[in-house]
Amino acid sequence: MDPKPVRLSQTTITELMIPSYANFGGKIHGGILLSLMDKVAYATSSKHAGTYCVTVSVDKVEFLQPVEVGELVSLHASVNYVGRSSLVVGIRVEAQNVKTGLIKHTNSSYFTMVAKGDDDKPAMVAPLLLENPEEVKRFIEAMRMREIKQKVREQMDDANSAIDVSRAPELLRHERCIIKLK
Ligand SMILES: CC(C)(COP(=O)(O)OP(=O)(O)OC[C@H]1O[C@@H](n2cnc3c(N)ncnc32)[C@H](O)[C@@H]1OP(=O)(O)O)[C@@H](O)C(=O)NCCC(=O)NCCS
Repeated sequence: MDPKPVRLSQTTITELMIPSYANFGGKIHGGILLSLMDKVAYATSSKHAGTYCVTVSVDKVEFLQPVEVGELVSLHASVNYVGRSSLVVGIRVEAQNVKTGLIKHTNSSYFTMVAKGDDDKPAMVAPLLLENPEEVKRFIEAMRMREIKQKVREQMDDANSAIDVSRAPELLRHERCIIKLK
């Protein structure tokens, strides 16, 4: 399979934040932004893979600043990393006030997608052609993050399997909860 350059699948989606997207506080629902992020991750990964892709996991979703009704939200997405069938898509979300022109960075997140073949099984994707130092840096970061996540998953499995509920009163002495088992 020939390598594909990052730039060929880079995607930007821009959407106007309309009143029906707002929560009771008048700001845009986080779920609206997550849905847009999922769409741009799909568009970007499927352009690289040339197949249907599914979302497997989402990392680092932090809404740093609220988004207002009337702002234009742009989601800039690139494939940062590819494995055999998985792709990590980095997404930068920005909200622009059209009157002032001010652009704020609201969050950056990483979506892991998996390419699927016609048989619905994970399908091999083309290698990624890295053409500048930023793309190389992002690939290395994603590779490290993948290794760290795998270690954390293993440690959590070990730690969770070792939880002894009978020791809860002692373990939770300083926590803000009350145990009242039925
Ligand atoms: C993602 C999915 C295809 C993985 O299937 P699987 O049988 O575990 O396949 P594999 O073990 O071969 O893994 C395939 C790839 O997914 C990656 N993967 C699997 N679980 C993962 C996880 N939790 N986080 C990150 N990557 C993961 C594997 O590392 C592998 O990557 P690689 O091919 O680049 O090495 C399967 O779990 C699935 O279809 N999930 C549902 C996805 C979906 O429907 N999403 C929409 C939201 S509901």
